[in-house]
Amino acid sequence: MTTFKINSRTVTFDGDDDTPLLWVIRDELRLTGTKFGCGIGQCGACTVHINGAAQRSCVTPVAAVADQAITTIEGLATADDRLHPVQQAWLELDVPQCGYCQAGQIMATVDFLKHFPAPSDEDIDSHMTNICRCGTYARIRKAIHRAAELGTVVESTGARE
Ligand code: FES
Ligand code: FES
Repeated sequence: MTTFKINSRTVTFDGDDDTPLLWVIRDELRLTGTKFGCGIGQCGACTVHINGAAQRSCVTPVAAVADQAITTIEGLATADDRLHPVQQAWLELDVPQCGYCQAGQIMATVDFLKHFPAPSDEDIDSHMTNICRCGTYARIRKAIHRAAELGTVVESTGARE
């Protein structure tokens, strides 16, 4: 049995400790914004925040998040339901094509900008490792710069807590 917080809600999963966190998020908690892509930690479609740090939930056993705070794309908006600056930037730049990878891209960007608040293109290219099969990388890069302008110092784990 594993108890953790997700988007400010305390939940308990009564299943196998080795169950991937992504399975619990999507299949048990029905938070389907977080996507399954490769299942082996490569593509980043499943990116969520664990205590504010971007992690790939497909390779994170649920037992590893006991008593931790998880944020998914559904919990990223601020307490008064304003979009996070990264979400605003994504909308302004019309980033998504099919959209499948974009929740993961946004979650990765929020954490990235904490470490690189005014990133160069090189910083983005070397640290943003999420894959987009539609090839929206140029728009993602522009949106990251725009989000940096908008200011992104929002603690995702505290957004709704
Ligand atoms: S689904 Fe988790 S990294 Fe691809
Ligand atoms: S927008 Fe289609 S995979 Fe990224």
